[in-house]
Amino acid sequence: MRLTSNDAATENPESPAVELEHVSKRFGERTVLDDISLRVKGGEAFCMLGRSGTGKSVSLKIMIGLIQADEGKVRIHGNEVRHGDTETLVKLRKSIGFLFQNAALFDSISVAENVAFPLRRHTKKSEEEIQEIVRDKLKEVELEKEGDKMPSELSGGMSKRAGLARALALEPSILLIDEPSSGLDRITAEEIYDLLLQRKKSRKETMVVVTHDTTGVKKFADTFAVLDNGRLAACGTLQELGQSENPTVRQLAAGSET
Ligand SMILES: Nc1ncnc2c1ncn2[C@@H]1O[C@H](COP(=O)(O)OP(=O)(O)O)[C@@H](O)[C@H]1O
Ligand SMILES: [Mg+2]
Repeated sequence: MRLTSNDAATENPESPAVELEHVSKRFGERTVLDDISLRVKGGEAFCMLGRSGTGKSVSLKIMIGLIQADEGKVRIHGNEVRHGDTETLVKLRKSIGFLFQNAALFDSISVAENVAFPLRRHTKKSEEEIQEIVRDKLKEVELEKEGDKMPSELSGGMSKRAGLARALALEPSILLIDEPSSGLDRITAEEIYDLLLQRKKSRKETMVVVTHDTTGVKKFADTFAVLDNGRLAACGTLQELGQSENPTVRQLAAGSET
């Protein structure tokens, strides 16, 4: 991956935080994303809704360069993301936190070490500083007492929160979150959404959340996009989506599609 600018950290305030321009992606015969264009403004909480298998996870992975689009352009803070330059990819990933659907914690190290991992890998911070940030992040997700536990000892909700703490460790300017509530009961899911809401109120980072769970994201997302059959079927406020002529969009906006 290579960015057109030499410095991946260059953030043009005029540019959208994330921009997809005519992005298409096929796997074999199957077109998963078909000519998707969208812009996520800096500081915005942007939610991509869609049924299972509509390409939500693929979209996020394209944004962070884990999957290469077949066509179209991806820009992060105005810098075009191109494959082939690993060094720039590493720089880019430092400014983007990614919470995977399954939290993807490293099983063989403690919760605290999971959160410390990106700090050890990408910064030259002292051990003391790292420990302070880890404490701070675990506190933010209400896991201050679980730092010494192993990931296997955590419940589903705790794993998500630990994954969130790790995604926040480098204070990314963009947070990508894949299905914050998948596999969680309603109450636990609400706790995760409350944490994201608090985060949104206290920081100005951009959030892109993909989910099929409209009920949960309603309380904190500003803009909603709907993926349907590989196309971007709608983009706007939830109210605007509720007036769409497309029944899938209306259903997702109403939260009746799960
Ligand atoms: N690496 C891959 N290789 C082949 N097919 C894939 C790959 N990743 C995703 N797909 C397919 O792309 C489609 C969209 O997947 P995904 O983005 O995971 O959907 P979701 O909206 O549920 O997150 C699915 O049909 C999935 O099987
Ligand atoms: Mg998915």
